[in-house]
Amino acid sequence: MYIQRAVPLCWNGWRQMRESRVRWIGVGIGAALLALAYPIAGQKGKKVEEAVIYQAAPLPDRIILTWAGDPATTAAVTWRTDTSVASAVAEIAVAEDGPLFRTKGHAVNAHTEKLDASPGAANVHSVQFTGLQPDSQYVYRVGDGANWSDWNQFRTAASGPAPLEFIYVGDAQNDIYSMWSRLIRNGYTEAPKARFILHAGDLVNRGIVDSEWGEWHAAAGWINRSVFSVPTPGNHEYPVGADKVRKLTGHWRKQFTLPANGLQGLEETNYWMDIQGVRIVSLNSNERQREQAAWLDALLSGNPQKWTILTFHHPILSTAKGRDNKELRAMWQPVIDKHRVDMVLTGHDHTYGRSNVTSGTSGVQGGTVYVVSVSGPKMYNLEREPWMQRAAEDTQLYQVIRIDGTQLRYESRTARGALYDAFTLSKVKGKPNKIANASLPKPEHLRMAEERKISVK
Ligand SMILES: [Fe+2]
Repeated sequence: MYIQRAVPLCWNGWRQMRESRVRWIGVGIGAALLALAYPIAGQKGKKVEEAVIYQAAPLPDRIILTWAGDPATTAAVTWRTDTSVASAVAEIAVAEDGPLFRTKGHAVNAHTEKLDASPGAANVHSVQFTGLQPDSQYVYRVGDGANWSDWNQFRTAASGPAPLEFIYVGDAQNDIYSMWSRLIRNGYTEAPKARFILHAGDLVNRGIVDSEWGEWHAAAGWINRSVFSVPTPGNHEYPVGADKVRKLTGHWRKQFTLPANGLQGLEETNYWMDIQGVRIVSLNSNERQREQAAWLDALLSGNPQKWTILTFHHPILSTAKGRDNKELRAMWQPVIDKHRVDMVLTGHDHTYGRSNVTSGTSGVQGGTVYVVSVSGPKMYNLEREPWMQRAAEDTQLYQVIRIDGTQLRYESRTARGALYDAFTLSKVKGKPNKIANASLPKPEHLRMAEERKISVK
């Protein structure tokens, strides 16, 4: 329209006028969009405090499945209400194709603890279901007898070796509800039959801030009601108290019902479980590390499982020089090599680095694969080290690990589900594992020199 009405002008003049008009049309469109976003120009909605968003109510929320015992015959569920619910209960039944299971279940009374959290206390309730049949589907709900959650479904583990699939994520930590939610949901859509989600520490940024836990639970939502969680604590779950001493946040043991089979005093942070031929071990890298080396050595000396996977927060092969943890490596790596641990899954460095099968220390051929990963939006710089087979910066990742017989298949995928790293490990009797690295597109996701000066959050 405009061009048709334009009077003849010299070329430059005409172009200037056109560009100027285009600019004004752009400004007009921008203003219209802003007006749509804010019905009254310049006015935003009133900010609702996070503590208010995530405050407890009489109805159950933060419902989460974990294990405190044998994954083949037990399951634990923990949830939160406000303090008006003093006695809580869970119901469980064998899952059926239709609704008739509702009349066949039985009730289990919950253990209730008070959780001191701004803007007021809440109650946290937990139940352990025992005597379950292996490799069987169950349904459960939680409540107070009058108000109930939805019925949620899960499957117990098989009693011996069987194909196993699980998801592993590094630090979620920051902007959890707004930025981590798509990552964990994409992980679930990629591996909906995953038996559990392993969290390698720093689930939140401030372990004593209740609303951050509210974000964490809300981001995964109902996934946590039917896929088990296996968390290990990071340094951000160890806030500094009024006495200037770092201590495990009070939220941890109350909201996660986990095994108490590690070192005394480190219950539910240092623990292990066997599931379908795989021994999963959580070490607490925040405290009493030397004692845990001896504990781990003893635990793995009598390990009948074909596969062993370790998780802890602080990597012993770091993705940045300034973050190298020599002391922890000296304490733990000889034990890891000695017992030929298959994989070590860590977080903390807010970048991605994955080793080949390592040659080990002290002359022992360990064959362990080490991973540092990050799932939330906080990103650091990476420093390339010879041990890294694959690396990434500024990339939110989750990993899907599938174990079947003598093979382990590993995939690392980005927040949008794109394959970023992959390999297969194969067991060789009496020798370290063999690795077959997938050939993946280059270049890797690495920052440009200028970008290294930018710290994202
Ligand atoms: Fe972190």
